[in-house]
Amino acid sequence: MTRDPEARAAELRRLIEEANHNYYVLDAPTISDAEYDRLFRELQALEAEHPKLRSPDSPTQRVGGKATAAFAPVRHAVPMLSIRTETNSEPEGALNFDARMRRELRLGDDDPLVEYACELKFDGLAINLRYERGVLVQAATRGDGETGEDVTHNVRTIESIPSRLRTETPPEVLEVRGEAYMSRPDFERYNAKQRANGGTPLVNPRNGAAGSIRQLDPALAAQRPLSFFAYGLGEVRGWGADNRDWPATHSGVLDRLASWGVPVNDDRAVVHGGRALADYHRAIAARRDSLSFDIDGVVYKVNRRELQDRLGFVSREPRWAVAHKYPPQEEMTEVLGIEVNVGRTGALTPVARLKPVFVGGVTVSNATLHNQDEIDRKDVRVGDTVIVRRAGDVIPEVVQVVADRRPSPEPPRFNILATYPACPVCGSRVVREEGEAVTRCTGGLVCAAQRKQSLLHFASRRAMDIEGLGERLVDQLVERDLVHSPADLYRLDLATVAGLERMAGKSAANLLAAIGKSRSTTLARFLFALGIGNVGETTAKDLARHFGRLDELMRADVERLMLVPDVGPVVAHSIADFFAEPHNLEVIAALRVGGVHWPEHEGAAVAAGPLLGKTVVLTGTLPSLSREEAKALIEAAGGKVSGSVSKKTDYVVAGAEAGSKLTKAQELSVKVLDESQLLALIETGPKT
Ligand code: IVH
Repeated sequence: MTRDPEARAAELRRLIEEANHNYYVLDAPTISDAEYDRLFRELQALEAEHPKLRSPDSPTQRVGGKATAAFAPVRHAVPMLSIRTETNSEPEGALNFDARMRRELRLGDDDPLVEYACELKFDGLAINLRYERGVLVQAATRGDGETGEDVTHNVRTIESIPSRLRTETPPEVLEVRGEAYMSRPDFERYNAKQRANGGTPLVNPRNGAAGSIRQLDPALAAQRPLSFFAYGLGEVRGWGADNRDWPATHSGVLDRLASWGVPVNDDRAVVHGGRALADYHRAIAARRDSLSFDIDGVVYKVNRRELQDRLGFVSREPRWAVAHKYPPQEEMTEVLGIEVNVGRTGALTPVARLKPVFVGGVTVSNATLHNQDEIDRKDVRVGDTVIVRRAGDVIPEVVQVVADRRPSPEPPRFNILATYPACPVCGSRVVREEGEAVTRCTGGLVCAAQRKQSLLHFASRRAMDIEGLGERLVDQLVERDLVHSPADLYRLDLATVAGLERMAGKSAANLLAAIGKSRSTTLARFLFALGIGNVGETTAKDLARHFGRLDELMRADVERLMLVPDVGPVVAHSIADFFAEPHNLEVIAALRVGGVHWPEHEGAAVAAGPLLGKTVVLTGTLPSLSREEAKALIEAAGGKVSGSVSKKTDYVVAGAEAGSKLTKAQELSVKVLDESQLLALIETGPKT
């Protein structure tokens, strides 16, 4: 590293400018956000220490990226600001903000606590929505804060943004500011599709959002679904005479926007004092992984507008707001090696062994590389410096290589087949079929890795639900040659089980009891447990409902299978192939001999319940039914439970603390029921 501050400042400026260009103009980031922040902070610190180094063109003196020529420029009536970041990322960092506010507002120790609005800091792209007399007339990006880009066409593809505010008395001009983002499920779905079709997956949801908003073709933008949360206002004119209807607090503004149909996130709070800010920070941190979208922190805002006005601005930042960040979900580290894991279906998944790095709240030392195509596309090699992403409960993945950090001489490209011509677990031949993304071990049930994975799947909670049969036991059962197929589980005796490590005494009896209990199951669980390719839990249920009897299903040809809702040719062939394999038939017969049984019925008969063909979405906590129970009841009545609300949803069942799904239902005029109405409906059927 350069020691001379002037040279270092110049170097930092060059690195930051380059990163900005790659990020904003080329949509192809070269460094992680965390690395960017570090460079930026180092430059800020250098400039603070040596003020003469601060040139007017320094990246620290600008708000954001540059606009490209492709979209018409939009000059913001009110500049789009940035917010100051609290550098102490512990919850107690919040106390600094509160202390500063009290000082600035000249409050003494005896004065009351300051009221704050707390909200999430969404990790997407800032958008200004301009409504004139309640009608959406323009949408623009932030750009450099003064001038953004006109992205009205693409923003119109975001379903949840109303094109008209739901009020009889809209302000003359109301600019709603907020974040356009891609939800994690939408991101995962889009990437899974891209990987399956050999397309280019998105690096992270934020890039997905930026790319989608700045797509030149709105049809392409619409294929990358975005969502939106409002967090503030821009220009406001004629909100009542002299803007008298403008709510006096920030939280009041968001409440009003929500009531007009603008999406506002529910995880916000109005609190008093610094301690409560820290509590909010802590509470949200605990839930960060389970949110359906990325956040990079929380934001605190002085709630009363009158106080905001008194506090005013420093350079381009309001004094009354601060961003309090969480550890980044992307970090840079080194690839120490590339290995493969063998899964249930024999797929060899390449895994990068990493120099351990703290990312997304945990230390990560392995990250998936998905398959050979992905390794080739990203060109990941041993020794490379890479950006690793871990967000939500999704397994960590390598998102890209930092090209200019590749060691020289260059390490060779990595090829799975060349490195593993034989399965590292069983030594069987490894193949990659023409046109397939996966590389596979041909060992089938000879392969201990595949056997272990299929047993774990067979025993899992949503399959046969054998409590206590975890990885450690399965390893032993397979390695000691005690269990070859799931059917062998039902032949285990007490002496054998008690001879396993850590299985003395009661545990052995407990395991046998759990195995015994699993004998009585349902056809849907049994089908799911078999691990038929492309047959997940939902398909297994559809098959069980449609055929009613296992023998009926086993006799069905591809055409008959395709009569089942949502079963297409690929799934139908997988099922037919599975039942054409003599070994699989032997295992099924042995399971039946071992006492595994389920109630059988005439095909599709039960499906003709009162909710036949209806799609139901559950949200919030119901007073007496658990989510699983409600789902089972709806399915038993012939209905289908879906995770998200759309125009195709027939009912939304809402309980306490129902969130955005309820709002969406109201927006789309979907019928909303409470628990008792659901139960009545199941009893009597819909009135049509
Ligand atoms: S308030 C006057 N609130 O964070 C303050 N910003 O530097 C204007 N962001 O790019 C911003 N969630 O797009 C605010 N709840 C939130 C936010 C939020 C995300 C983004 C915003 C901007 C950056 C602020």
